[in-house]
Amino acid sequence: MRIKFNPDTKLYFLIGDPMEHSCTALVNNRMFELVNQNAVCIPVTIKKGQLPEFIRAAKLLRAAGIYLTMPHKGDIIPYLDECDESSKIFRSVNHVKIENGRLIGIGLDGMGMGKTIEKAVGNGNMRRVLLIGAGAVAGPIAADLYKRGARDFKIANRTVQKALSLAKLLEENFKDIKVECGSLDDSFLSAIAGDRDVVIQCTSLGIGGPGAEDFKSLKFMDYLPKHCVAADVLYPQSSFLMRAQRNGLRTVNGMWMAINQQKELMKFHFGAEITDRDLLEAEEAFRIALTVRDVREERLQYRQQLLK
Ligand SMILES: NC(=O)c1ccc[n+]([C@@H]2O[C@H](COP(=O)([O-])OP(=O)(O)OC[C@H]3O[C@@H](n4cnc5c(N)ncnc54)[C@H](OP(=O)(O)O)[C@@H]3O)[C@@H](O)[C@H]2O)c1
Repeated sequence: MRIKFNPDTKLYFLIGDPMEHSCTALVNNRMFELVNQNAVCIPVTIKKGQLPEFIRAAKLLRAAGIYLTMPHKGDIIPYLDECDESSKIFRSVNHVKIENGRLIGIGLDGMGMGKTIEKAVGNGNMRRVLLIGAGAVAGPIAADLYKRGARDFKIANRTVQKALSLAKLLEENFKDIKVECGSLDDSFLSAIAGDRDVVIQCTSLGIGGPGAEDFKSLKFMDYLPKHCVAADVLYPQSSFLMRAQRNGLRTVNGMWMAINQQKELMKFHFGAEITDRDLLEAEEAFRIALTVRDVREERLQYRQQLLK
């Protein structure tokens, strides 16, 4: 554990709202140690609309970079001096480095999940995809899966208009792609589930816990074929993953979606090369972060009970 900081310490911020459940600062700090960097990542709650003020503060503090989560991934784009084309198109940038006052952005969520799914699929097919959700992570994931061979997409979202907008973007940017959209309704999902190779849950539904929202029905999952890989952006468990496991499908959760970004990230920020084996360190840090998060939540609940 780092115990000493000095004026050369590179400052990174992890920003978003809400931040209570985020585990990645601990993982980032472990990776900084691994690549021998005098750097620290600090999680901060920054609300929607506060980005301009935060960017001014980050420059004043000579921050070296920003890790972004909801709701800033699209809002950051107008402030960037450089950004890869795909992240601009799908309005999803989750990492920024600051060099001589210039902001350079990159989006790695799609690659993180694409790589995770490809490994789970192995020699199998990943041509026919069902995306559940059409928010900030869905577009980059679809774009990455296209690069890995996916061609036939079905997108189900509560707000169908958002699914249609994502379909338009995919059709405009990729050749030989077929996209069909519908609502998050069990009858639509059940009708299209039968021939899917991969299904990816990209909403915030089904994580459990007090007040958390869930799917009205997961009956459609009984129609997915046995070879289908079920992936969830959430971690470590969700109602979607539990149903998939019960049905005997191969499953992956969102933990490796985040871990798989670390290789590119270390190169992006420090020009450092790490191996696949080094990613096991990130996995270990992630598991520790999940335990720390659980303990913090238990303590908060206990304190609230005492105050009642
Ligand atoms: N594992 C990772 O590395 C990783 C990385 C990024 C994000 N995530 C997680 O991925 C999830 C989605 O992130 P995002 O950035 O895409 O969020 P977002 O842009 O806000 O999109 C949220 C999605 O969830 C749907 N949704 C939300 N509440 C719903 C409800 N009550 N009923 C039905 N649908 C609902 C939205 O539907 P509408 O369009 O109808 O609103 C939309 O499709 C978050 O939980 C986030 O923490 C994980």
